[in-house]
Amino acid sequence: MIKSFVQKKLTFREIDPEKGLRAAMDLSPEAVIDCISDSGLKGRGGAGFPTGAKWKFCRAAKGEQKYVVCNADEGEPGTFKDRVILTRFPHLVFAGMTIAARAVGATRGIVYLRGEYTYLLGGLKKALQERRDDGRLGPAVLGGDQEFDIEIRMGSGAYVCGEETALIESLEGHRGESRNRPPFTADTGMNADPTVVNNVETFAWAACILDKGPDWFRVVGTDHSVGFKLFSVSGDIDRPGVYELPLGTTVQELLEAVGGENAKAVVIGGAAGRCVGQGEFDRKVCYEDVPTGGAVIVFGPGRDMLEVAENFLEFMCEESCGQCTPCRVGNPKLLECVRMLKDGNCSASYLREIVALGESIHAASKCGLGQSSGNVFLSIVEHFREEIMGRAVGSV
Ligand SMILES: Cc1cc2nc3c(=O)[nH]c(=O)nc-3n(C[C@H](O)[C@H](O)[C@H](O)COP(=O)(O)O)c2cc1C
Ligand code: SF4
Repeated sequence: MIKSFVQKKLTFREIDPEKGLRAAMDLSPEAVIDCISDSGLKGRGGAGFPTGAKWKFCRAAKGEQKYVVCNADEGEPGTFKDRVILTRFPHLVFAGMTIAARAVGATRGIVYLRGEYTYLLGGLKKALQERRDDGRLGPAVLGGDQEFDIEIRMGSGAYVCGEETALIESLEGHRGESRNRPPFTADTGMNADPTVVNNVETFAWAACILDKGPDWFRVVGTDHSVGFKLFSVSGDIDRPGVYELPLGTTVQELLEAVGGENAKAVVIGGAAGRCVGQGEFDRKVCYEDVPTGGAVIVFGPGRDMLEVAENFLEFMCEESCGQCTPCRVGNPKLLECVRMLKDGNCSASYLREIVALGESIHAASKCGLGQSSGNVFLSIVEHFREEIMGRAVGSV
């Protein structure tokens, strides 16, 4: 049996969630936003958008009602750190959401919880009730002039509903399909009102930053990716689990931490991520090099990389919402090509055409799902060229 592992030194264990909340309530909304901007915090859900800037846009947007939405859909294959955060540190997340509400002027908060996490509902609702009972949520948060409450809404199991505009469609009771952007969610989100959507971990760090200050957060990381990040690490390793590491950690360092030194490849960022081969293990896991919302899947020496590509492409074909042709029709063509390669009846020239198609899907798709659906396949073809071309019929 594989024993999973949660690193003992998680910063969140040492933080009093309410200290950050109290600090935020004593500050002006603008000062709260400045604190988050100065910290350099970027979204922990994957895209790495600066959190302070997002909150500033939402604060500036006009609207009677504003919303703070916690994206707890956690549908990326290989990601499970948000589940750990919600299980162990729910008050940190709720405090972070309340701080965001203070910053943007929102009165309603919603946690969009992954459908498969129904079993977390009881604990989360209990934590919310405790907060209402002692005034950390309600008409006057901590006795001040901020009204805010949080409800939990269940997701329905579609990967695309983690994409923030599809998530809002789903919250509004519609089919989960991504919207065109602009307008952006911070301006026109839930019920066309200004809405902040952040990842579970982003809210948790926001609460830490309000307590400890922006400089505390900046002590580790790279120029463009500061702070610690939680990683969900799985696959062919000795110690799968949740790890907190500084952004900018190299793939090699990460592999050493998890007992995966003999890896053949690592898929970083889940199905939307990319495959990094042995020759690139000195690359850094951070927004400007190899980004991830937290998913790290390690493949050992015996793995067939075509099977890896097939697995991720099957997922993408299943999860495409079908609105746009490149994503709906293109991904099955990539999958078909991988299966042809496996069966030994794909020519090298057809493979080249399919690689070009993968690039077109990226360029022509409407949302992040289609824009990233071919990443793992394309990076496998790039890094395992000999292994893949060896399966193609004819010369390159
Ligand atoms: C297909 C798809 C699935 C996504 N799934 C999630 C998810 O499960 N959780 C998440 O926080 N962000 C997810 N995102 C990113 C969100 O659209 C959005 O960028 C994020 O919630 C913003 O929060 P952050 O700035 O705190 O990272 C997904 C994006 C795409 C394109
Ligand atoms: S890219 Fe794919 S998932 Fe996104 S809107 Fe188009 S069809 Fe839907």
